[in-house]
Amino acid sequence: MKIENLREVAFRELERVRNQKELNSFKVKYLGRKGSLTQFLRKLKELSLEERKTVGPIAQKLKRELEGAIEFKKKELEIEPSLEFDITRPGQKPKLGHLHPLTKVEAEMRRIFLAMNFSVVEGPELETEYYNFDALNIPPYHPARESWDTFWLKLPAAKSGKLARPDLLRKSGLGKGQKLLLRAHTSPMQIRYMETHQPPFQIVVPGRTFRYEATDSTHETTFNQMEGLMVGKDISLANFKFVVEEFFRRFFSGQKIEFRYLPSYYPFVEPGLDVAIKLGAKWLEVMGAGMVHPHVFEAAHYNPRDYQGFAFGMGVDRLTMIKYKVPDIRLFRSGDLRFINQF
Ligand code: PHE
Repeated sequence: MKIENLREVAFRELERVRNQKELNSFKVKYLGRKGSLTQFLRKLKELSLEERKTVGPIAQKLKRELEGAIEFKKKELEIEPSLEFDITRPGQKPKLGHLHPLTKVEAEMRRIFLAMNFSVVEGPELETEYYNFDALNIPPYHPARESWDTFWLKLPAAKSGKLARPDLLRKSGLGKGQKLLLRAHTSPMQIRYMETHQPPFQIVVPGRTFRYEATDSTHETTFNQMEGLMVGKDISLANFKFVVEEFFRRFFSGQKIEFRYLPSYYPFVEPGLDVAIKLGAKWLEVMGAGMVHPHVFEAAHYNPRDYQGFAFGMGVDRLTMIKYKVPDIRLFRSGDLRFINQF
């Protein structure tokens, strides 16, 4: 074979090489001990001196070129494994995130209440003493304040007047001598909502709440509540019973539930009660509730003789623990992926 033909055939073949294995055979085929180029070079000595002088350097050059091209191809195959792509291999599932169990349960609760013609509203986590306590019939001297271990805020910047948004400060009520706190429950939204709306209405208020207390498997400093408030001319405890039982029947769909209403005390309701449900063998307390206290209506500038209503507050964490059999409330905000990945 002529040296020019050999070069053309070799390079065309190299172009079709698709993986390292083929590249190896290619190398052997041309440059190996019995390779065509090696043989060609060996046969050079059979030629005349004249011919050797012209063909020799060309063949040597081709050898170097081939070696270089093989090196180059090798690197190319390394960085471009797609040349070896196996289209029958199963695909890799992209990793997707998912909702936190508390988010899921809250969403489910919102959905059920929306379906029962409640509106969902939200309120601020940073509250004033007035909305969290006074307006809810808990004046400063009231011993019931002890039931809500409260995170009070110290705002040195507010005192020195160096606050970035004095307008927000005024809105918050601090300017009127109001102390700020992290809301200890979602009940402040009862007042805020009634200040700006007229009955009849029915709302639920999901949100984060905070308590300054020691944590254990059933207590957290940060947790979630859902408040309920229904006000009209003739809303009664019978309406409350229906709403609550209907909610839990939908929430624990299919499971057998029994209900128990226990007398209890909250300053902003009269009468006040706690609701317990029985799922399987255990009785579990799931909410505080009652008929809205006349003082609460007065704080919102309603005439208590015109309206009545019920209010309730339930722990979203508690319900999530029951629904998913979570043994420790602290797991929810631990950030532990071994826990989160199970949902
Ligand atoms: N706000 C009460 C709590 O945090 C619960 C509650 C709400 C009770 C509404 C009665 C009525 O414990």
